[in-house]
Amino acid sequence: MNVLIIGSGGREHCLAWKIKQSPLLKTLHAIPGSPAMSQIAECPGISQSDFKAIAGYCLEKDIHIVLVGPEEPLAKGIGDFLSGKGIKVFGPSQRGAAMEASKQFAKEFMQRNLIPTADFETLHDSEFAKEKIKNNKKYPVVIKADGLAAGKGVRICKSEAEALEAVSDFMDKRIFGFSGSKIVMEEFLTGKEVSVMAFVDGNSFLLLPVSRDHKRLLDKDGGPNTGGMGAICPVELESKTVKTIEKEILSGFIEGIQREAISYCGIIYAGMMLTAGGPKVLEFNVRFGDPETQAVLPLLKSDLLEIIKSCVEGRLNRQKIETQKLFSTVVVLTSRGYPDNPEKGKEISGLEYVQNSKNIFLFHAGTKRENAKWLTSGGRIINVAGLGSTAEEARKRAYSAISDISFDGMHYRKDIGGNI
Ligand code: AMP
Ligand code: GLY
Repeated sequence: MNVLIIGSGGREHCLAWKIKQSPLLKTLHAIPGSPAMSQIAECPGISQSDFKAIAGYCLEKDIHIVLVGPEEPLAKGIGDFLSGKGIKVFGPSQRGAAMEASKQFAKEFMQRNLIPTADFETLHDSEFAKEKIKNNKKYPVVIKADGLAAGKGVRICKSEAEALEAVSDFMDKRIFGFSGSKIVMEEFLTGKEVSVMAFVDGNSFLLLPVSRDHKRLLDKDGGPNTGGMGAICPVELESKTVKTIEKEILSGFIEGIQREAISYCGIIYAGMMLTAGGPKVLEFNVRFGDPETQAVLPLLKSDLLEIIKSCVEGRLNRQKIETQKLFSTVVVLTSRGYPDNPEKGKEISGLEYVQNSKNIFLFHAGTKRENAKWLTSGGRIINVAGLGSTAEEARKRAYSAISDISFDGMHYRKDIGGNI
């Protein structure tokens, strides 16, 4: 098969690495891809928002499946556009992608389909929202911009002043543009968070090993939220919790998309809080998590391409997932200034000492190649994944590999995989 991956980050590098191992694969392509991805895939230099050029490329190269990494092209309708041209896409329709692109849509979908989630209210008008807040007695309260905001549209407000500031930033100042035209005000939940990802073919789901993401910039979950500073897998859950996740959340999701005729083939990722009252969905994402994918896929024994193929062919119910009985820890190396204003163009040294082996993997997120050297070119630079027969061994492997790598301003959390 000929496969095209859309995207250019650490998640897509990892997807390309895993798909490359499939005996079903003939040729691998990436748009836009990255210098690291171009070592294993053909990258034709087309923009990921140029759907017409992507469709033309698919027809020219006889692409059998397009695998969409990031949420933006899905929210803009790449699934519908390519499907309309007879090209098979692993990634939902634009209506399906609204599960991530509109918090209101996702929350109302959960409410209609009895999927456990935090109580909420959608507010369309900033004066009305401020009135609501002045009458609110319970803090913290969670305020979310409705639309996509690169992971920054959620504020946990501990006081009336913070809540009013969030409303003013999102709705009046429009710091995320149209994404803040309405907000969701939500009950604050407490507990441990987990990332639950499952394959979906429209009729059934297949659960991937559960992982945990660490979004805060600094150790002990301090500092601002980022795209993700590290991840671990698997996270062991009580069987009662797994049952609720399968019966109420994922089955509820499948029944919901069927009842509402939402075309959905791809990954559903539920960010969840394990509350005292059971697991509750904080948010849906309509694609693989980043960096969770870099922790999950190295543990997979199964052929990823075979599972993806059975999704687009609507026969996922015949598939099983086999995993190695190992643990993984992924640590993300970032640039000075990340997440607001990352420095770029610094030379990365030591990568040659960390050759990919059975237990260590490097997935590039923001790097470029110049004069036979690797340079930084973004905020998140490299994901270092360590595997081990215990969580502690996995953690030690990842950090030992990191000790060989350096660049000016390199930052990473020292506590991923520890007791946070
Ligand atoms: P999101 O970008 O929607 O994943 O939200 C970012 C982070 O905000 C989540 O990972 C949670 O830590 C936190 N969060 C979101 N919604 C809630 C909630 N209802 N209660 C507590 N924390 C939340
Ligand atoms: N790691 C969080 C996300 O992929 O949205």
